[in-house]
Amino acid sequence: MAASEQKQLEFKVPNLEGVEKPIKSVIFRVSRFDPDRDREPYYRDYEVPVYRFTTVLDGLLYIKYNLDPTLAVRYSCRMGVCGSCAMIVNGRERLACKTNVLSLNSNIVTVRPINNLPLIRDLVTDLRPFFEKHKKVMPYIIRDDIEAHQDREFLQSPAELNEYMMLTDCIKCGLCYSACPTTATDALFLGPQALAQAYRYTIDSRDAGAALRFDVVDDPHGVWRCHFAGACSAACPKGVDPAFAIQQLKKLLLYKRNAMKSRKPAPESEKVREGTSVEEVLKSMPKEWPSPPAPK
Ligand code: SF4
Ligand code: FES
Repeated sequence: MAASEQKQLEFKVPNLEGVEKPIKSVIFRVSRFDPDRDREPYYRDYEVPVYRFTTVLDGLLYIKYNLDPTLAVRYSCRMGVCGSCAMIVNGRERLACKTNVLSLNSNIVTVRPINNLPLIRDLVTDLRPFFEKHKKVMPYIIRDDIEAHQDREFLQSPAELNEYMMLTDCIKCGLCYSACPTTATDALFLGPQALAQAYRYTIDSRDAGAALRFDVVDDPHGVWRCHFAGACSAACPKGVDPAFAIQQLKKLLLYKRNAMKSRKPAPESEKVREGTSVEEVLKSMPKEWPSPPAPK
């Protein structure tokens, strides 16, 4: 191996020898699959030394650079920001770089790829279906006066920002998509991440694209396919609540028929404070969801 390659490997694997003693060794039971050789995935065991702060991603990289360089694992930021290292660890959707091995309280760490996406190799899935659905809901501000007002900002109050702030924490890791039982049974279902982002942009006071997004989500494979299992919100490592957003989106759709008689053009920037079509819908919605009628 060339000296430059060796240097690169040393940089990637934190070397704690001489600095700290490993607390224990654990068995990493890792799902392996090579499409050129294997008919189906299988598990292989590796012994990994664990220090106080060893994460599951550290363990996988220890395997890759010390025991088995053929292991395929996707990661980037190593700090819970990029969403690349989503996988299933001891049966639960997690970010490998945010999961401390000792916190698992187990001498066996089982790692497998996330569900509901095609498997490329080992722990790496093909995220294209997930991102195609994300793109489908038009996750950006839609207005017809953006070109005319390149030189100014579209203002928003802190209260308006607060309406959707929680949903901006999504890092597109796909863990909710993996946990969702509806996605598991309907490949065309838009999925919790895309639907939550449809809601996030639709309630943004600067946006006027509600009607366009409603055309996408008001579909048998759209918002109505969600049965509110809530697994998406339980799986999210960033505190995003897609299940809540999807139920809110259902409410918007139900009320739009009364409050949005026709598709409206985007408001001009001068009128941005006068409200968008979605604001009209939100105003017309009751503060509390009506209770179901008492059983007879
Ligand atoms: S909503 Fe949460 S779990 Fe789903 S993609 Fe975004 S960050 Fe990941
Ligand atoms: S490597 Fe970026 S979130 Fe884990």
